[in-house]
Amino acid sequence: MAKKSYRKILVGLDVGTTKVAGAAGQVSYDGAVDVLGICEVPSFGLRRGNVIDIDSTSRAIDRCLNDLERMCGINIASARVGFSGANIATIPNRAVVAVGHPGNEIVQEDVERVVHAAKMIAIPPDRSIIHLLPRQFIVDGYEGVTDAVGMAGSRLEVEAVLVTAATTAVQNLMKAVGRAGLKVKELTLNTLLAAESVLSPAEKEMGVVLVDIGGGTMDISIYEQGGLVFSSIIPVGGEHITRDLAVGLRTNLEEANRIKEQHGCSSVDAAREDVIIEVSNINGQASRQVSEKFVASIIQPRIEEMLEIVQGELFRAGVIGVPPGGIVLTGGTSNLRGITRSVEEYLHIPARVGLPENTRFINGEFKQGQYAAVLGALLYDLKNSASDVNLDEELLLGSWLGRVILWFKDLFR
Ligand SMILES: Nc1ncnc2c1ncn2[C@@H]1O[C@H](COP(=O)(O)OP(=O)(O)OP(=O)(O)O)[C@@H](O)[C@H]1O
Ligand SMILES: [Mg+2]
Repeated sequence: MAKKSYRKILVGLDVGTTKVAGAAGQVSYDGAVDVLGICEVPSFGLRRGNVIDIDSTSRAIDRCLNDLERMCGINIASARVGFSGANIATIPNRAVVAVGHPGNEIVQEDVERVVHAAKMIAIPPDRSIIHLLPRQFIVDGYEGVTDAVGMAGSRLEVEAVLVTAATTAVQNLMKAVGRAGLKVKELTLNTLLAAESVLSPAEKEMGVVLVDIGGGTMDISIYEQGGLVFSSIIPVGGEHITRDLAVGLRTNLEEANRIKEQHGCSSVDAAREDVIIEVSNINGQASRQVSEKFVASIIQPRIEEMLEIVQGELFRAGVIGVPPGGIVLTGGTSNLRGITRSVEEYLHIPARVGLPENTRFINGEFKQGQYAAVLGALLYDLKNSASDVNLDEELLLGSWLGRVILWFKDLFR
């Protein structure tokens, strides 16, 4: 039997509103990612995707990493860390540079120059650029160039998407991770990570909407021609459904969450009247009985509200008609029974649940939407090591000063 020779260990960390998840993987001899282990611990230090308690977040990260180290027999010094939160914005931008080498051959330095030029936009002083994602290069007016190095041309343009976030939100996450003794290899927008594990290249190329519904946020992203073109993070998620159920069933949050996960349905039509569920009261005592339909009647309005938001965001992003790849749902709340049907009925767009299937060797229990981002981090890491904005430059110097320094660097490049 051929002996497997492993090359590299990859580590991903997803600091979510309901759980902190870590995953480690190895790049196998054939270039695929084999998962070594996944660990998760409950998270209490975040609200709606943002760190609000650095200490308890860093303790959860520490516990998660210790478990992962023990499980996989590895030492973890750094990881690719996912970033989310309602303060994210995507901004399309273009930049152009002149190419002046003998023979007009475009070299790597020209590509770096134009990419840096695309970062030079006026953003408020309290925001930082966390990604610059080139969508295409345009060489002397010819569009659709993905790798401009080596081409002949005198004018190099880039069309890019900038992802910005509130500087303090990023710093708080960095602090929580840092206190847990972990070095952030790169901070990456969660939706980019989830997209790696649940979307196919064909979907991304043709146009697809990825909706990651977690505990505290709903990340709505649009992919076209292979890359991200729009992302918006809405502070509503599965915890809102749990709260609605706790109020509607007059019970506590744990019981409401259990009922949601075990018996919840996204619409009344998908639920049955004859299925009876035992519900304990707010103190966890004496139970009463409600039908599955009654539970669904509490969940449905919240799902409809979420879908209305999705519709509004698609409109804001300029999506007209049905995206060829439809809507792919992921995140923990995509486990809710009947959710794809609700999406199709409400938005008239084909929908499917996206499971993290692009990695190997994962237990069935981890092939679920809530692990899409952390498993996607391994795949993203494999493809994109060191391709993003340097966080030390951007964040540690403060956003406006960082931008001035980058601008000067560009000037003397
Ligand atoms: N079977 C299920 N039915 C309904 N909801 C579920 C089910 N399983 C998990 N969930 C819900 O999914 C949510 C957690 O999802 P996920 O782990 O993706 O969130 P997160 O990453 O921690 O949060 P966020 O991304 O919003 O910061 C919880 O609200 C949980 O109750
Ligand atoms: Mg999440």
